[in-house]
Amino acid sequence: MRYVRVAHVSEFRGRRFKTFRLLGRPVGVFPETGGGFYALEMRCKHQNWDLSTGPLEGDIITCPRHGWRYNIRTGACENQPSAPLRRHGVRVEDGYVYVSLTPEDSDSADASGLPFGDAVPPGE
Ligand code: FES
Repeated sequence: MRYVRVAHVSEFRGRRFKTFRLLGRPVGVFPETGGGFYALEMRCKHQNWDLSTGPLEGDIITCPRHGWRYNIRTGACENQPSAPLRRHGVRVEDGYVYVSLTPEDSDSADASGLPFGDAVPPGE
């Protein structure tokens, strides 16, 4: 599975999450209180809306389009249990956060061992 560098750890101070585009898809990266991180896709399973534009209350993010609700810790969808958000792998090395290009359970995972690349920041 290929990982890309998305940000320095310090960029998450005071933030609940940051969103990056990986292979054209929004991926949310969330810092944990213990210093770790987790990441999951941020595209609504209903009609692909970017969930990062919705409100986050506690561990629940709500899609602003039609109101589907997701638990950001588990990816579970309250409205459609068969449509959870998938998680991405996360590594922290030398103060930088790296995220897998594809979700952990993706069939298209790249196991080539290619070197890390940089993510494309949102809006570029
Ligand atoms: S697109 Fe998200 S609830 Fe419809």
